Amino acid sequence: MSISNRRVTVPLTNRSYDVVIGPGILEQAGSLIRDAGLNRPIAVVTDERVEELYGQKLIASFAAAGFSSSLHVVSGGEPAKSFATAEEVSESLAQAGVDRSSLVVALGGGVIGDLAGFVASIFARGIPYVQIPTTVMAQVDSSVGGKTAINLGAGKNLVGSFHQPALVIIDTETLTTLGPRERNEGLAEVIKYGVIADRSLLDAMEDVSQQSLTEIVERCVRIKASIVAEDEKEESGKRALLNFGHTIGHGIESAAGYGKLLHGEAISLGMRAAGWLSTKFAGLQIGDYHRLIRLLRQLSLPVVLQDEIPTAAIMERVFADKKFHRGEIRFVLTSEFGSAFVSEKITRTDLESAVESLRESIA
Ligand code: NAD
Ligand code: GLY
Repeated sequence: MSISNRRVTVPLTNRSYDVVIGPGILEQAGSLIRDAGLNRPIAVVTDERVEELYGQKLIASFAAAGFSSSLHVVSGGEPAKSFATAEEVSESLAQAGVDRSSLVVALGGGVIGDLAGFVASIFARGIPYVQIPTTVMAQVDSSVGGKTAINLGAGKNLVGSFHQPALVIIDTETLTTLGPRERNEGLAEVIKYGVIADRSLLDAMEDVSQQSLTEIVERCVRIKASIVAEDEKEESGKRALLNFGHTIGHGIESAAGYGKLLHGEAISLGMRAAGWLSTKFAGLQIGDYHRLIRLLRQLSLPVVLQDEIPTAAIMERVFADKKFHRGEIRFVLTSEFGSAFVSEKITRTDLESAVESLRESIA
């Protein structure tokens, strides 16, 4: 392993694993997997775009480390998080002879990570998998923590499992091929970490360079690892803090039609709504709410909700969401950036008002 790689452990007793971070480490993937003791035939799941960019490099790294591997490519984008694509991938794995002695490798963004992780959790009643995330979104958030999912028409991520990866390999150099839209939607989750856990990340968001991204990714991974270690299955309320902006954000993403808004774009709107509710119910300073909006706009993320997405459709999805506890909404608020808490005091009417507040344009 190169001396410059950074390593973060997610401590979960017998399911602990490492997240290895560094620019250019994709070509070490084979040796990193071997060093982690995962000496198994490999099935790579990826999407068309990522396969074109990084598929051969990864396969070459596996061959150099003595692994046999097969490649399973799906069309990308949010619609791939479906039963139909999970079935397509499962059939493809079966045809390639993948069995309980195999290892799934998810190469791509959060969609591929969630989909391949879900398939790995049910194929042959569960096989190990490795995450190799290639978007900001997946590197700072979705590849760590073991949440896997596909969507239903009724709502986002409604079918899924907790299935921790055996290793996460983050090559921050892969972020250089992202378009600005994909890069910026991922940075929405960095803003989330700044709001809920470390306000200095918000300062780092004022000017993001490729060089500072590796540092930012590592800081986010450390926050996520410590939250997941404390509350792996979102039971105590600690992990629920990661849902800041996601209750309304998921409702908007689903009501817009999967793939219309990128995940981070919907979360941008959801964070504005959560910020607005925080000024009303948690004492967040109005100046901080405006700073949040400014940071989101600086990344060209949407902060005003389009009229075509009706409030009723959003509310229907919000109430199909998993973020409920015995019928109560568990809504994440912040009183001051750098910390957050779960409130069960937010009513349906409050949520509707927050969605409506998103229709007000900002000068
Ligand atoms: P994505 O996976 O759809 O990727 C966005 C686009 O970027 C795709 O078209 C992909 O082909 C392309 N791409 C990926 N890597 C690239 C690269 N290096 N260069 C060029 N193009 C590249 O979207 P995403 O934002 O990464 O992930 C969103 C998903 O993640 C959502 O479904 C969301 O629910 C999920 N998510 C899950 C968790 C979790 O804890 N499991 C957390 C956050 C988000
Ligand atoms: N992205 C939310 C979580 O992992 O819990």
